[in-house]
Amino acid sequence: MRIMVTGGCGFIGSNFLYMLLADKPDVFVCNLDCLTYAGNPANAEDAARRFAGRYVFERADIADAPAVERIMEEHRIDAVVNFAAETHVDRSIADASPFLRANIAGLHVLLQAARRRGLTAFVHVSTDEVYGSLGPLDPAFTEASLLAPNSPYSASKASADLLCRAWHETYGFPVIVTRCSNNYGPRQFPEKLIPFMYLRACSDQPLPLYGDGGNVRDWIHVLDHCRGIWLALTGGRPGAVYNFGGGAERSNLDVVRRILDFCGRPESLIRFVADRPGHDFRYAMDYSLARRELGFTPSFSFERGLEETLGWYRDNAPWVAGVTSGAYRSFVDSWYGGRL
Ligand code: NAD
Ligand code: DAU
Repeated sequence: MRIMVTGGCGFIGSNFLYMLLADKPDVFVCNLDCLTYAGNPANAEDAARRFAGRYVFERADIADAPAVERIMEEHRIDAVVNFAAETHVDRSIADASPFLRANIAGLHVLLQAARRRGLTAFVHVSTDEVYGSLGPLDPAFTEASLLAPNSPYSASKASADLLCRAWHETYGFPVIVTRCSNNYGPRQFPEKLIPFMYLRACSDQPLPLYGDGGNVRDWIHVLDHCRGIWLALTGGRPGAVYNFGGGAERSNLDVVRRILDFCGRPESLIRFVADRPGHDFRYAMDYSLARRELGFTPSFSFERGLEETLGWYRDNAPWVAGVTSGAYRSFVDSWYGGRL
């Protein structure tokens, strides 16, 4: 299989492409990424050397139709997994425009190019955030839950999911949508909760928890998510939507306390700050469809996965230094400036 992995210089895309290259000797990967602030060439740095002849990087924008078509043709692509997106909720609140362009217009270009080529395998990677928010006692989201996105980010992702649905219903295009809960693991850009709090705690900086820290996320290790995507790509029903979750609901306060514990810092670093506007209270995923149809089950325990993840950040100082200046610093200063 010759797979175009879009967004392969980001967090989940890079974990996915290394998993494929290491475990699936028959797979060729074309990593198409335009290298936004979140796209880090170091994330896939040694793929070309370690997997010579089975990996190529193409710097391009998924919203650039001629480039996407040329690259699909040149590398004789027969499957697409679309990770490329703007992904940070807080940034979408500050400015939605890049989200609409990459997450909706970009996905449209990919669908068009893939349909023209007659591809029969296309997975679009989506999120639990399209379902909106749960109350403390609500049952977990199923694939039949209503789409009720609350942030500009999740609205752009829900729009993309609906385009996928239309491409299947109207053109019979065999696209599959996967929706996953919060990922954690190596190489996550440190604007996201776990690496953000860990790196700040290590340098004794205050930790800004939105609201009272009681919001709940369902954490899944990135490698469990990647395995689910592979199962959907190779065995999913065309037109289907599959939920993936980690079965590990934790409040943000609980997660931050574990991080403080890991790095031996006091709880006095925590600051309860003004809430994120439109902040979803709780996510939880019912992944019984993926278990039944794909054989998906998450394998990591959150506590073990979190320790390994924090250990990865501790042991990879050059990577951390490479991503914590420039765009990271200016966003942190402008976003948290008034909060802390
Ligand atoms: P990330 O922000 O770490 O990486 C995104 C990558 O996409 C970057 O390498 C960036 O350069 C690239 N990109 C962005 N716009 C592009 C464009 N127009 N053309 C080409 N490349 C572009 O993101 P992530 O956390 O790895 O998320 C990957 C996907 O998984 C996203 O679609 C996201 O919505 C989805 N998702 C993420 C999570 C999570 O917890 N991180 C959970 C569920 C779903
Ligand atoms: O649920 C899947 C989604 O998870 C993905 O689709 C998104 O791309 C990804 O960014 C993530 O979204 P969240 O908004 O849940 O992740 P984030 O790491 O930004 O925040 C996790 C929780 O922590 C959320 O309740 C907000 C809270 N938080 C986050 C930050 C960065 C804080 O309290 N303070 C913070 O400084």
